[in-house]
Amino acid sequence: MKDKVTIHSLKRLKQIGQKICMVTAYDATFAHILDQSGADVLLIGDSLGMVIQGHDSTLPVTMDQMVYHSAAVARGTKRAHVVADLPFMSYQVSIQEAVRNAGRLISEGGAGSVKLEGGAEFADTVRAIVRASIPVMGHLGLTPQSVHKMGGYVVQGRDEDQARQLVEDALALEAAGAYALVLEGVPLELARTITQKLSIPVIGIGAGRHCDGQVLVCYDLLGMNPDFKPKFVKRFADLHGSITGAAKVYFDEVRQGAFPDDDHSFKATKTLRAVAPAVPVPGPRAEVPVAAEGEEKIGPVYGIPV
Ligand code: KIV
Repeated sequence: MKDKVTIHSLKRLKQIGQKICMVTAYDATFAHILDQSGADVLLIGDSLGMVIQGHDSTLPVTMDQMVYHSAAVARGTKRAHVVADLPFMSYQVSIQEAVRNAGRLISEGGAGSVKLEGGAEFADTVRAIVRASIPVMGHLGLTPQSVHKMGGYVVQGRDEDQARQLVEDALALEAAGAYALVLEGVPLELARTITQKLSIPVIGIGAGRHCDGQVLVCYDLLGMNPDFKPKFVKRFADLHGSITGAAKVYFDEVRQGAFPDDDHSFKATKTLRAVAPAVPVPGPRAEVPVAAEGEEKIGPVYGIPV
């Protein structure tokens, strides 16, 4: 395992022209797999409101939920930098609340930095969080927490005024101390301009190939939802198909009595065979016996990476 990725090593990647690989994760198992596969940055995105919780926006996600998922991801990660989203209304009301909530994602959630959506109007907020020694990643362009203001999930920066505003916002975030910027849903020409103007890494999603790195929602790149086909997503796997196929085989085998077979069952010891009743006796739960030397051990349990 190579050295831990930091906000400083991410900046060096931009300087040497090496693309930054970022992906969302919401639990320890996915974090472990994506980290081992070479992710530079794992984002606990508030997109979890949609892909985990089944909402139609990110707006219902709470601070407690972000802290819970961040802590799980942090536990599953060794090398990647872990960044957690500040959810809707956790940083917009006051700078004090913003700093306190950013602090929770670090101290309780185990993240290494926080991300927030918005431009120049949040420069003072970014400055205050950075002053509290918490690195901040900005997020501009199509910002899902502003879905109602945008009138839907629509590409931003297509006209001159919007494009100029986005460049100004990006510069304002950099000046306020942001260490990186996510640029979502903007034309690739505008993304190239912003990427060239900033010295901090610009990580694109639906922003074309000229950014310093790319980020995707892990469920999208893994093909978990065949009905979600936005232009900017490429499916690198068909997990929906794989999971459906595997689950169907499992259900068939259970229904036919083919699973579990002897290879997937425990055998009683001689002593237990002599005393074990044919029918389980109702009563207090028996203690799980500790396996003696040479005996079968149960574990790892539930696929936890150990
Ligand atoms: O919430 C999220 O997953 C994000 C990424 C799509 C950038 O903000």
